[in-house]
Parts: sequence; structure tokens; C-alpha cells
Amino acid sequence: MFRVWDLSLMICFTVSIMFVGVEGISELPPPRNLTFKWETPFTLNLTWEKPKDLDPDCKVNYTVDVRHSQECSVTDNKRQTRRVQSTTCSWNISNVNGLCISVTVNPENCGSRKQSPSLNIILPPPTVMLVTNRSYEYSHNKLRCTWSRVGVVEDLVFYYLSPQKNTVIKCNDMKDGECVIHDTRLKEMTDMSYLFIGTYMGKAVNNTFIEEGPAHYVKLKKPQLTIQSDGHSLHFQTNQSDLEFGSHCYKYKYTYTKCDKNAQEQEVMDKPNYEVDYDSNCKYKARVQIIFSDKCGAGRSDPSDEVEYGEDRDPHLPAFLAVIIIPLIVSCCLIVSLVLLRRHKDIIFPKIPEPTLIFKDMLINNIRMPEDARSPTDGRLYVPIEEIVASKISLEPETPLLPTTTNAGITISDE
Ligand SMILES: *[C@@H]1O[C@H](CO)[C@@H](O)[C@H](O)[C@H]1NC(C)=O
Ligand SMILES: *[C@@H]1O[C@H](CO)[C@@H](O)[C@H](O)[C@H]1NC(C)=O
Ligand SMILES: *[C@@H]1O[C@H](CO)[C@@H](O)[C@H](O)[C@H]1NC(C)=O
Ligand SMILES: *[C@@H]1O[C@H](CO)[C@@H](O)[C@H](O)[C@H]1NC(C)=O
Ligand SMILES: *[C@@H]1O[C@H](CO)[C@@H](O)[C@H](O)[C@H]1NC(C)=O
Ligand SMILES: *[C@@H]1O[C@H](CO)[C@@H](O)[C@H](O)[C@H]1NC(C)=O
Ligand SMILES: *[C@@H]1O[C@H](CO)[C@@H](O)[C@H](O)[C@H]1NC(C)=O
Repeated sequence: MFRVWDLSLMICFTVSIMFVGVEGISELPPPRNLTFKWETPFTLNLTWEKPKDLDPDCKVNYTVDVRHSQECSVTDNKRQTRRVQSTTCSWNISNVNGLCISVTVNPENCGSRKQSPSLNIILPPPTVMLVTNRSYEYSHNKLRCTWSRVGVVEDLVFYYLSPQKNTVIKCNDMKDGECVIHDTRLKEMTDMSYLFIGTYMGKAVNNTFIEEGPAHYVKLKKPQLTIQSDGHSLHFQTNQSDLEFGSHCYKYKYTYTKCDKNAQEQEVMDKPNYEVDYDSNCKYKARVQIIFSDKCGAGRSDPSDEVEYGEDRDPHLPAFLAVIIIPLIVSCCLIVSLVLLRRHKDIIFPKIPEPTLIFKDMLINNIRMPEDARSPTDGRLYVPIEEIVASKISLEPETPLLPTTTNAGITISDE
């Protein structure tokens, strides 16, 4: 009894495995007749046909792979993939690297059949690269495109897809190696399409490029930096005269050195001002650069001119002054004044004639006065202290000398 059960189970199992295995191996057939057409210089239209001999109940859709290379095995980020239900699709794509396009059939509701092998077509690149070194700078509704032309190319013309009109137009502000596109919708564009047409070996050649939008090539004006201090901190302030986008799109990269050290401090701020602790014994040198935030695109300004603030000083100098220099100066002054005092003590502290002597002299003078007043050569004329007359005390020989004036004179010299 058990044997019969076992046997039937085993048969069942084997048959189901066989069935699944056979079904698993069955791939869908590939699509047919894959063709391409450039609708515009930038838009590639692809069409193909449903696989032949497909069960009418079997529903499928398609995977389209585009590789920016002639190598169909490339699986890196140069590969773009899309899934579609219809048998056509179009891509905005650059032609300069050549393309490998492959289409596979996926079962959507088709029993247990597998994805088909892919059908590939390869588009070779143009015969020559017409330009190198392409670069872009965007500012205030103007996009400046520059390039270096390759020597062997003639009659080079630059076109672009107009953001306003969505048509390919020729650059009307073109110099050799440069074109400036004016358009108020530039900054809204997520990508830009450029076309170069030139003649190489007598044949027209097209090169197309699809690049990120102008917001990824923002060129900002060189900012100005001002530095102020409130004693404890140093305030860096950026003068931004160039706010074309929202303020959240700008970042401020401050770079500064302190005390002439080689170490650079760097800080990226969301605001145009920045504050650091201020060491008043240090000279600061700073620059600012405005960075266009990756939230809004990419780009930067040139770094500002370097701004200096403060002076390098020895922080121990004031203490040194207080402890050594000032006492030294004070003692020098003291010594000098002592020496001077000694040398000129006769002037500063004049010898005062004894009062008795003065009175005696005066008496004699007064007695002699009437006879000898007009004779200055008279030996006996009293000219007591001529030196004092030269200094601060003025004693007129004619006026009668009183002891009080003499005393006053001495007090003044004493001071
Ligand atoms: C591919 O399509 C073209 C027209 O689009 C047709 O002329 C050609 O016969 C088709 N080739 C195959 C193999 O189906
Ligand atoms: C280049 O592009 C122009 C304009 O779209 C087109 O008319 C021309 O056929 C293209 N030439 C080549 C060689 O691809
Ligand atoms: C591609 O071109 C064909 C006609 O040539 C058109 O029927 C189809 O809609 C186009 N595909 C796309 C995605 O525009
Ligand atoms: C290709 O670019 C044109 C013009 O910008 C646009 O209208 C179209 O939607 C784009 N097609 C695809 C598939 O991205
Ligand atoms: C294609 O089919 C798969 C199922 O195999 C499904 O997951 C996918 O959403 C389908 N894609 C489209 C674009 O219909
Ligand atoms: C591209 O630019 C670099 C430097 O910017 C220069 O050395 C080089 O010669 C340029 N190439 C061409 C083909 O002009
Ligand atoms: C910013 O700089 C511009 C010149 O670049 C000047 O005209 C303007 O007055 C400055 N603004 C401030 C706030 O310093």
C-alpha cells in the first residue's frame, strides 16, 4: 500500500520537475527589424517589430538599453535603460562616442517563458571630433560656451537647442571658439543640447553633445570680504552683489591663517557671515569664495582678495615691559637727575648770602648811593648775585632789596 503511494508521489515529482525544466529553458524569441532614425540632431527614434510566432495570449514588453560606446558589453554608468510596452521609443542622445542599442523582449503575462536574447545595432561615432576643451559659464541669463577647434576642420558652426523655442538655432553671438547664448529660460533647463557642424576631408560632420543645464556651470562674481572685530571675536562678512538664485543656493568658504602660521583654517558656511574667536596678538589673513550649492547646481566664484586684520605681537611684551623696562627707565632717569643735580647745584640751590651781610651791604650802598649812583665802574657798587638774575630770580640793583623777595625767589627755585 505504502509502496504504491511512494511510487505515485515520485512519478508526480519527477514529471513536475521535467515540466518546469522544459518551460524554464524556453526563451522568448528576440524582436525583429530594429531600425533607428535621427528625428532631430539630438533625438534618436528607434522602432522594431514584435517577435514572430508569438502565442496571441502571450503579453510582452521590451527593455531598451543604450550604451555610449560601440562596445555592447559595457555595463558601467554609460548605460541607460528603459522599459516600454510599445515597439518604438526615442532618446535625446549625443552621437560623439558611437552607440550600441539593444532591445530585449520580456514576458509580462506569458506562462513561465524567459526574457529573449537581445537584438543589437551599433551606430559608429562621427569620423572626427570637431572640438575639444569644451567649457561653459553661466551668469545672469547668459551662457558662455567655449571650445578649442581641431586644426583639420573647416567651416565650423555652432548650434544649440533653444530653451524658448525648442528648435535648433545657430549661435548669433559667435567668435572663434566662443559663443554667448542669451536666454531668460536658461536657468530652468535641466540639460542643454549643442551641435557642431564642420567640414572634414570635404565631408560634413556632425558632433552633438548633451550637457547638464546651465545651473551646473554657474560662474559667480568675485566677492569682497570685510573683517571687523568687537574685541572678543572677529566677524567675517562677505559682500554678495550677485544673488541671482535663492539664498539657499550659496555657500561661503572662508579660508584664513592666524599669526602667519602655515596652517590654514577652512570653514564652509550657509550664511555670508562667519565669526571666530579673536586673538588680539595675531595678524589674520582671510579670503572668501562663494560656492554654488549642489542643491541648486554647481559652480563657484574666484576667491576674494586677501584681507588682513590685526598685527602680530609678542603676547609677553606688556609683562616684560612692566617688569624690566619700566624700572630700568625709571632708574636711568633717577641717575641722570642726580648727576644733573650735582653738577648744577649752584644754580638750583644758590648760595644765599648771609642776611647780616646783605643788610650791611645795603646800608653801605644806601649811604654811598647819592654820590656814586651814576658810576657803574665803581668797585664798591653792590652787584651781589648776578647769576641769580640770569636764572629765575630777578633782583634789580636799583630797587631796595627786601628779605621777603629773596625768600620768595628761593621758594620758586626749590620747586
Ligand atoms: C524591416 O522593416 C522595413 C520597413 O520598416 C521593411 O522594408 C523590411 O522588410 C523589414 N525587414 C524585416 C526583416 O522584417
Ligand atoms: C547633421 O545635422 C544636420 C542638421 O540636423 C542634418 O541635416 C545633416 O544631415 C546631419 N549630417 C550628418 C552628417 O549627420
Ligand atoms: C518614431 O518614428 C515613427 C515613425 O517613423 C513614429 O511612428 C514613432 O511614434 C516615433 N517614435 C517616437 C517615440 O516618437
Ligand atoms: C528630448 O528633447 C526634447 C526637446 O527638449 C523634449 O521635448 C523631449 O521630451 C525629449 N525626449 C526625451 C525622450 O527625453
Ligand atoms: C514589463 O513587464 C514586467 C513583468 O515581466 C513588469 O514588471 C513591468 O512593469 C512591465 N513594464 C512595463 C513598462 O509595462
Ligand atoms: C585644451 O586646454 C588645455 C589647457 O586648458 C591646453 O593645454 C590644450 O592645448 C587645449 N587643447 C587644445 C586642442 O586646444
Ligand atoms: C559690495 O560691493 C560693491 C562693489 O563690488 C559695492 O558697490 C557695494 O557698496 C558693496 N556693498 C556693501 C554692503 O559693502
